[in-house]
Formats: sequence, structure tokens, C-alpha cells
Amino acid sequence: MSVSPAAPAPASAPRSASAPTQAELLGFVRRAVADADLIASLPLDPEGRTWVRLEGPGGSEAWLIGWPPGTGTGWHDHADSVGAFMTASGELKENSLAVRLPTDGWTTLELTGGVDRERRLATGEGRAFGRHHVHEVLNESTDRHAISVHAYYPPLPRIRRYSRTGQTLRLEQVERPEDWQ
Ligand SMILES: [Fe+2]
Repeated sequence: MSVSPAAPAPASAPRSASAPTQAELLGFVRRAVADADLIASLPLDPEGRTWVRLEGPGGSEAWLIGWPPGTGTGWHDHADSVGAFMTASGELKENSLAVRLPTDGWTTLELTGGVDRERRLATGEGRAFGRHHVHEVLNESTDRHAISVHAYYPPLPRIRRYSRTGQTLRLEQVERPEDWQ
């Protein structure tokens, strides 16, 4: 597996018959997590998240990410990309919504009860997700870094960021890949 410096992904990648599936992306992140040298190559910073761009399968966008204690992504989705991620070290928590929300056409949305899901992903545990998956990922540890591997296809054209107050989800920002941290 090659590691290259972080660089903006192309704005769009051609879809092809060989587009990787969620299962293939999960297989990729599983193999990456098992690559001890790769995981150890990630610089860790106690002050903030770190990341290294990886070459994902079939033109997918992949990242190795380091999470200091107490850091998280905030609520977001990945528009039309499907993806997978897995914890390589430490533990991550994922809060997600069990319903598939439209990515476009709204700025605030009132969620019904019972749509929240919570997963704890210990080292070696991961998940795949479909289009329009809304979630936040956190390292809730007070003293331990977490490391994870992520893959998305198509390469992320944009990320939509939301604030969450109770059951209300509000669109706050649309980020391009070069903004994404
Ligand atoms: Fe995400």
C-alpha cells in the first residue's frame, strides 16, 4: 500500500463498472488496519487530529486518521459517497441516524424519536455505510489516542456539516475535500 502526502482529491472521479462496493471498502480498511507498519507511520499530535491520504481501491478516497482524546467530527454526511471505516487503535464511538436523509433540499430537519444509533468501535471493529449516511465520530477516551482507516467511493465531492440541538438537525456548512478535517 502506498502512502502519499495529503492532497485534494479530484472533484469528481469517473464511475465505472469496477466501482468498489461497501464490502470491498470494508475489506480494504480491514487490510489496512492489519498493516502494523502503515498504522505506525501516522504522526500523532496531542493537540489535534492528524491524517495521511491512502490509495484506496478502485479510485476510492482513503485516509488514515489519528484522534487525540476528546476529539470528534461533529455531525456530517458524505453526500452520494458510500464508505467504510475501522478502528486500528483505541476505540471510537459513532453516533448515527438509522434513517436515510436526503442530502439536498433542506436546511433544518426535525428528527422523530428512535432514529439515533450508537456504536462503539473497538480496535479491529468497523462498519460500512451507504449513501447519505449522517453521523459523527468521536474519541471519547480521556487519555488514549485512537487511530482509524476510512475509505469512500466516489471520492468525497463534498461533506455537509450539521449542528444538532435535540432532535433538530441544521445544515451549517458545505465543505470541499480540501477543507475536510
Ligand atoms: Fe464521516
